[in-house]
Amino acid sequence: MTWNPYYRGDGVVREDTRLPDPPPWRSFPRASAAEVFQPPEGLVDAVNASLALRRPLLITGSPGTGKSTVIEQVAEELALGPVLRWHITSRSTLADALYRYDALGRIHAHQLRQDKRRGGDPDPGEDDIAAFITLGPLGTALLPSPRPRALLIDEIDKADLDLPGDLLDVLERGEYRIEELLREGQETARLRLWGGDTTHVVQRGRVQCTEFPFIVMTSNGEQELPAPFLRRCLRYTMPRPTPALVREVVRRHLRLDVPEGGPLAALIDDFVRRVAAGESVAIDQLLSTLHLLDGPARLEEPERGKLISLLMKDLSGA
Ligand SMILES: Nc1ncnc2c1ncn2[C@@H]1O[C@H](COP(=O)(O)OP(=O)(O)O)[C@@H](O)[C@H]1O
Ligand SMILES: [Mg+2]
Repeated sequence: MTWNPYYRGDGVVREDTRLPDPPPWRSFPRASAAEVFQPPEGLVDAVNASLALRRPLLITGSPGTGKSTVIEQVAEELALGPVLRWHITSRSTLADALYRYDALGRIHAHQLRQDKRRGGDPDPGEDDIAAFITLGPLGTALLPSPRPRALLIDEIDKADLDLPGDLLDVLERGEYRIEELLREGQETARLRLWGGDTTHVVQRGRVQCTEFPFIVMTSNGEQELPAPFLRRCLRYTMPRPTPALVREVVRRHLRLDVPEGGPLAALIDDFVRRVAAGESVAIDQLLSTLHLLDGPARLEEPERGKLISLLMKDLSGA
């Protein structure tokens, strides 16, 4: 028996083919990673220092070392609410992360109202600028709140060169202004927040945080960040995994205790050795491999070896 009797490449239709249950980390809606994340040595101290000092935590490390997952566990343990996520690309701007003003949408709404008025509609509605402003992840994180919000600024090393400097200023002051509201002299505006249907009333176009958010920034180290920026962050580098850490991650994700000395333990040791030698292989590749190898169909060689080399490829060689 082969491990994959789903697609066979023979062009024969088999409508009754049933896929196996997905791995727990690929089941949707996605379960929180809070219960399965195993912090590596020193991370807990770094998070606590960052929380106590109200400084962002910058986590660097290779892909797949869990950088983007850390914050989920912190947010869950400290009941900071859903994590606000800002995924950085070269096009990301500070302005977009604070709020977006949909000027075109507003013009369109204005025209619709005029059409209605001409058509004799007694209630064409009113102009409300607030309906066209949505706070971004950073803008939402800085709203006054009884508890700090959790904000992930993911892959900050992908940013345009100016972004870290712009961001620094906002993070130092913990406040921002919504110029469009200030310009129109609007006293209060009920604005939509990032990532949900909730709203918040902003007074006189100014937002000032009361509890500085818990911010994790992640970086694969593709670009050096400016010194003034680094100075205002706590920095932590994900260490190379140890066999003990990997075993614990496997136990938490797969509910699997890998017996010493067996073939799965050899796979873990091989993974640790390859990472230590500077190869780019991620722990989720190992989890995927173990998930398939530990499945109902126990594989024999050569299938087993083929599957391992398919899944455990070095990422740098894409
Ligand atoms: N220490 C760990 N404990 C539990 N799971 C981990 C750990 N490190 C990585 N993972 C798993 O590996 C996957 C990739 O993690 P991710 O946070 O996306 O990595 P990164 O952001 O560093 O590229 C996730 O499914 C995560 O749960
Ligand atoms: Mg990541």
